[in-house]
Amino acid sequence: MPAWTIAEFDPATATPDVWRRYHAYRRARAIESDPDDPVVPDAVFEQGWRDERLDHDWAYHEAVVEADGQVVATFGSEAPKPGTPDYANNGHMMFSSAAVLEPWRRQGIGRAWLRHVLAWMPETGATTLTASAHEPDGRAFLRWLAGEPKQLLRYSRTDFRTLDWTMVQRWVDEAAGRAPGHTLEIHTHRLPEALWEEYCAARTEQMRHIPRDGLDMGDWVFDAGDLRDFYRQLDTYAADHHVIWVRDPAGRIVAITDVGYYPHQPHRVQQFFTGVHPDARGLGLGKWVKARMLQVVRDAYADRDIHWVRTDNATTNAPMLAINERLGFREYRVRGIYQVHRDQIAERLGV
Ligand SMILES: CC(C)(COP(=O)(O)OP(=O)(O)OC[C@H]1O[C@@H](n2cnc3c(N)ncnc32)[C@H](O)[C@@H]1OP(=O)(O)O)[C@@H](O)C(=O)NCCC(=O)NCCS
Repeated sequence: MPAWTIAEFDPATATPDVWRRYHAYRRARAIESDPDDPVVPDAVFEQGWRDERLDHDWAYHEAVVEADGQVVATFGSEAPKPGTPDYANNGHMMFSSAAVLEPWRRQGIGRAWLRHVLAWMPETGATTLTASAHEPDGRAFLRWLAGEPKQLLRYSRTDFRTLDWTMVQRWVDEAAGRAPGHTLEIHTHRLPEALWEEYCAARTEQMRHIPRDGLDMGDWVFDAGDLRDFYRQLDTYAADHHVIWVRDPAGRIVAITDVGYYPHQPHRVQQFFTGVHPDARGLGLGKWVKARMLQVVRDAYADRDIHWVRTDNATTNAPMLAINERLGFREYRVRGIYQVHRDQIAERLGV
């Protein structure tokens, strides 16, 4: 095998020639990791990535590994910058990932990624690498590095073509009796800007209650700036975002769900966050928002051929999984999330 070389990669300045090699790698990698999914078109992918970099709250790094004039592996990382809203709770974290095309594995490229992680960490003061994998090689590598996963995330999907629409309607109808005085609101395509602050505050509060299992991770802030960044990217992807929430009799948003639809994934709807505030649990609000959202999706995409709705949950999230199971969601794959302190990375590398 010829020797490989590592170069920093910047999606804002990469030349067309570098992009061409990058896209060839991306397609080869997609066959390994997500063979059922369509690949994002090149121009959309490039712009989507450049959009992401406009969020200046995060420090990003990217590198490509090349051999024989081809990209054979990539590394990337992101970490909250000091002074930004998430730094106080999560400044210790660096999220990073690496992928090596199969023929190039077990030759030390993964170790080279870890050396880059150690070099990138001081920029923000991060001390803990968080990385995840669903493929056997990735899980084995991360177990070698970090031990057992700190959390398991279950990707489940339900077959939209065989959904039990009678039950869905029943869940919607039950709400009047179980949650009197509560009102449901639907916002399709984009949430109007006047509602951003209120929605983001409710979502930030509810995200605090997502199970974290063994993860060393504090609360995250989701503010109007984050929503603006998200919408910039959705615009690039020509994607839709639908939000449903429920207000309690005092007018407080106590249940939320949102989904996305990306035209390059024509057969799939992505479920994002669903949360019911702990004070409002046991009233059937989780079933109500999820069931009503499925009806919204059915109406919005009546002229499309939706096969799947995808959702991702901690394997310990019993209440959410129970609702999802009843809607026909079944496990598709499980991803392990691993964490490791920089001292242990250095020890593994012998540096
Ligand atoms: C994870 C991945 C990046 C590792 O890349 P790599 O270049 O093969 O890793 P290295 O050659 O540097 O391996 C370093 C050590 O990790 C361990 N390791 C790596 N792959 C392993 C495997 N499949 N089984 C058991 N141990 C493994 C070994 O101890 C290895 O050292 P050794 O070869 O001297 O025994 C690669 O398997 C991959 O691309 N997987 C798919 C993407 C993914 O899941 N990424 C997860 C990380 S975010």
